[in-house]
Amino acid sequence: MVFELPPLPYAYDSLEPWIDKETMIIHHDKHHKAYVDNLNKALIGHEELQGEIEWLLKNLDSISSQIRTQVKNHGGGHWNHSFFWACLKKNTKPSGELLRAIVRDFGGYEGFIIQFKQNAVSHFGSGWAWLALDPRTKKLEIMQTHDQESPISLGKIPLLVIDVWEHAYYLKYQNRRIDYVEAFPNVINWEQVEKNYLNAIR
Ligand SMILES: [Fe+2]
Repeated sequence: MVFELPPLPYAYDSLEPWIDKETMIIHHDKHHKAYVDNLNKALIGHEELQGEIEWLLKNLDSISSQIRTQVKNHGGGHWNHSFFWACLKKNTKPSGELLRAIVRDFGGYEGFIIQFKQNAVSHFGSGWAWLALDPRTKKLEIMQTHDQESPISLGKIPLLVIDVWEHAYYLKYQNRRIDYVEAFPNVINWEQVEKNYLNAIR
């Protein structure tokens, strides 16, 4: 089965005023769609690889070198964006076991937000800033990936992400990534991040 663009799981204007409707339309309908289309193109003639995007990204080394970079870029773009949409919602707060882990590993919510924002602002070029779990230590960590690399290719379990490609913020914030990053905590879907965390530590 070829890969398909999943619908945005909420209305395009749901994140206003922090992330505007026009950005969401173009980001989801054009940019994310292009990754899906290009992944499908890359897999023409490699039908045995169609089906499980997570498997592809976790097993890049087993994929033919002829298409490995395309799968990493377009498959990563597809998976990362699908994960990103689910991380966004207004008016939620961290709680429960997740909040206890944030206090344990970052000293508290404010400490986490400061480090997360610093990580996003300081990323050079196009990429992503993540909160992830290291499955070996069970500790939270803040990390970056470049271009469309995904933490699942690096053995990490993603919990939260901010897209810091310019296409994620340019219409509203122009070149001011720092303003977009400052606004981002208003649209973190902590309910989803907690679900991701609980699944990760099981
Ligand atoms: Fe993006």
